[in-house]
Amino acid sequence: MISITDDLEELGKQRINGFDVQGFVRSYGPYNPSLMLIGEAPGENEIDTGISFTGRAGKELMKSLASIGLSREDVYITSSVRSRPFKWGTKKERDGTLVKRTYNRAPKAPEILAHAPLLDYEIKHVQPQLIVTLGTIGLQRLLGRQAKVTELHGQKLERSIQYLETLDDEVYSWTQEDYAIVPTFHPASIFYRPSLRDLLEQDWQRIGEYLKEINDKKS
Ligand code: URA
Repeated sequence: MISITDDLEELGKQRINGFDVQGFVRSYGPYNPSLMLIGEAPGENEIDTGISFTGRAGKELMKSLASIGLSREDVYITSSVRSRPFKWGTKKERDGTLVKRTYNRAPKAPEILAHAPLLDYEIKHVQPQLIVTLGTIGLQRLLGRQAKVTELHGQKLERSIQYLETLDDEVYSWTQEDYAIVPTFHPASIFYRPSLRDLLEQDWQRIGEYLKEINDKKS
C-alpha cells in the first residue's frame, strides 16, 4: 500500500487554499498495481465517504474494472485534484422554496497545478504496469492541452509526461522517462452521452488485453 506522506498532503491542502474547493480525499491502492487510474477530482459523494469514485460514476467504473476481472482493491485510484471543486447555484425544493447550494464542477488549471506535486509523487512511486486516464482532465494533466480523448482513447501510448519540477513553477516540465498510458473516457461521460458506452466498453477490453500482453511477456 502506498501512502502519500502527511507532509505532502499538508502541502496539497495549503496550495489549494483560497480556491472554491472543499475537503481532501486520499488516494488508495497497492504498490506496483496493474493499473493506476487518474480521474478528475472528487465530487460531493466522495467528500462524504472520503473514498474516490463512490458515487454514480464510481459504480460505472467498478463495472468496467469487473469486466476485465479487476476490483477496486487491485488498482491504485487517484485524481488530478484531491479536493472537491464547487460552484454555487440554487435548487428548487419540493415546496417551491429556493435554496442556495453547491454543485460539483471540473477543476480549473490553477487548481490542477496546485495539486500537481501530489500526483507527480504518486506517478513516481506507485509504479503501475499501466496508467489509465479517465477523461480529459487526467489526460491533459499528463500529456498537455492538445491531447484529445476522442482521438487517443483505447490506445497504449508510451510518452513522456508533464510534471512540476519545482513547487514555484507555473509551467510543467516533461519527464525524461516514458510512461505507458491508456486514455479513456470518464465513467460519468456516458450519463451525458449514452452512445459512448460501446467505445468505453471496448477501451476497457483493450486495457485488459494490454495487461495480458505485459504479463505474458514477463512469464
Ligand atoms: N470523478 C473523479 O474524477 N473522481 C471521483 O472520485 C469521482 C468522480
